[in-house]
Amino acid sequence: MWFAIITLFPDMFAAVRDFGITGRAIARGQVSVTCLNPRDYTHDAYRRVDERPFGGGPGMVMLAEPLADAINHAKALAAEQGLMNVPVVYLSPQGRKLDETGVKALQHYDGMILLCGRYEGIDERLIQLYVDQEWSIGDYVLTGGELPAMVLMDSMIRRIPDVMGDNASAEQDSFVDGLLDCPHYTRPDTFQGLDVPDVLKSGHHLEIEKWRFLQSVTRTKARRPELFKDVTLSKQQQKWLNE
Ligand code: ADE
Repeated sequence: MWFAIITLFPDMFAAVRDFGITGRAIARGQVSVTCLNPRDYTHDAYRRVDERPFGGGPGMVMLAEPLADAINHAKALAAEQGLMNVPVVYLSPQGRKLDETGVKALQHYDGMILLCGRYEGIDERLIQLYVDQEWSIGDYVLTGGELPAMVLMDSMIRRIPDVMGDNASAEQDSFVDGLLDCPHYTRPDTFQGLDVPDVLKSGHHLEIEKWRFLQSVTRTKARRPELFKDVTLSKQQQKWLNE
């Protein structure tokens, strides 16, 4: 998966680049991350990337021109790599809300150009002319698109085959099958008076699978009942549920 990120703060992306599973995926060449700073695409002595809004009001608006030049450069880089299917994705609270279904849909692209806004926003004409998709990571406002871009990248990278240490863990997590994740336990057997459920130490794999499934169902119904109606259950799961 190939990512080009248009950002005024490229150093922030050290968080995905230099740590954990995402860092390892980049080091192994399973993921490529290139940052392009709009400030490098300015033509004035002050390297301005923002201006006061027409019509007045608080804050500044990001200029269309440096962003357009940075996006065009990113598109040229994608073409050089032979990547065809590379949408420009703008992170904003006005976008479609990201969920695991959305992440799965985005997985089909060869890569993407992630556009991170700052200040009050971006000149609308840039969005009109260059943005293919707009995504939000939730109904709250952040100071910029960088953290949302990293959230999107992380959620996509972990779904790439062979990126996770144990491929099954990407499959078993919350939402992947439409249910919330089950509880997890490790050593010691007893922690401050609380025991690990016996079934998990029984070595009986089918019983463990059944227990985990029923825990997931109980959690989903209690915490996110609206998710439960969209779940498709296997024959075995239906049987467990009706026992
Ligand atoms: N930029 C600022 N807030 C955001 C959000 N909630 N989602 C995506 N991009 C944003």
